[in-house]
Amino acid sequence: MAYTLLLRNCAQLLTLAGAPAHRPLAGENQGNWRLLPDAYVACVEDRIVALGPMSELDETLVTPATTVLDAAGRVVMPGLVECHTHLVFGGNRAQEFQRKLQGETYLDILASGGGILSTVRATRAASSEQLLDQALHHLLGFRQYGVTTLEAKSGYGLDAETELRLLEVAQEAGRRQPVRVVPTFLGAHVPGPEYRGRPTEYLQMLVQEVLPNLHPQDVPFVDIFCEEGAFSVSETRRYLEQAQALGFRLKIHAEQLHDLGGCEMAAELGAVSIDHADYLTPAGAARVARVSGGNTVAVLLPLVPLFLRQERYAPGRAFIDAGLPVALSTDFNPGSCPSKNLWLALSVACLKMGLTPAEAVAAVTLNAAWAIGQQQQCGSLEPGKRADILLLHVPSLEEIPYWLGENPVQQVIIGGQLQPA
Ligand code: NIG
Ligand code: FE
Repeated sequence: MAYTLLLRNCAQLLTLAGAPAHRPLAGENQGNWRLLPDAYVACVEDRIVALGPMSELDETLVTPATTVLDAAGRVVMPGLVECHTHLVFGGNRAQEFQRKLQGETYLDILASGGGILSTVRATRAASSEQLLDQALHHLLGFRQYGVTTLEAKSGYGLDAETELRLLEVAQEAGRRQPVRVVPTFLGAHVPGPEYRGRPTEYLQMLVQEVLPNLHPQDVPFVDIFCEEGAFSVSETRRYLEQAQALGFRLKIHAEQLHDLGGCEMAAELGAVSIDHADYLTPAGAARVARVSGGNTVAVLLPLVPLFLRQERYAPGRAFIDAGLPVALSTDFNPGSCPSKNLWLALSVACLKMGLTPAEAVAAVTLNAAWAIGQQQQCGSLEPGKRADILLLHVPSLEEIPYWLGENPVQQVIIGGQLQPA
């Protein structure tokens, strides 16, 4: 069948395909890492149908109706998968940024009724239309950075009605523009203000009043913040078990500020991802990799310690060496990372977590897709997958993390459609 879209003369085509991918990648030498010089990728409608060296391009399938992009001197790679965001929220926390600059910590601000709780007040006060407008604004920003699929958590409502509203806003935002939105329920972010000091009762409320109103086919993941000032490991375990019994897949915010053991507990339950993990030790990572059989992805968020003025970054190099697959995300949210620049996160992961450029690229594509259960659809360039493709300005893989903070994207393609700049 004639190609509808062709990218030809790609200086480097980063496919991340190759050997059959049964699990996310831990390290560069797993067969899936493919970098083809002088290559093409061809699509029909919204699917990739062929790719390979230019010498093997079947020119008979290139017709006057084919949109052709010349990628000479350019890298072509899969669209970015942003696997951890708090997309929907009201207001911002620029004032707390000042407090942080004067020395207050993240947990100090939360304990004083600020932090997440201040965003909860602004979010409850906002209408669904206002929240949707803001979410669409942020999604446009992500799309300009080359994000083609994005996970969006609730978690700034902290009552049944607002939490359900936030998930509806996230889903509606997904319908209104091209970036695919995968919603996650994070009602268990911290106990709602009405449940101060009563975390167990708050979680019971979520189990009784919210989870029965959600369907795993629409909202596939349930997440929780396991940390001092949020939920303990035992509260978290019980809640995640209840969510799992209702058919949801599990995620956890854990080992962000202390080593409490949340990551290992969640991996034992088969969590699809363990997120933050700055305080997870290499030995803990090895246990997570073992109990999960390499199927749980550590989602590392290198812009968060940077923004919170912390010295401790997850030892990503050691995680990968221990067989624990790593994905990267911004954690976009108003408190700990108001940045949508996943390329900057990628660079900081190389600088502060010891990832190689190839591992970091896999961490924002294929492994990120695994972290949100989208690996059949996106995250690599393979025939049959969705045509979510980036054409970059840069000529080689090693220049991707090098141009610190720059957006290397020249053209974004989602489902075979060229996106406006
Ligand atoms: O992933 N750590 C918990 N939750 C968010 C931050 C939320 C906020 O401060 O508003 C995070 O970093
Ligand atoms: Fe988060």
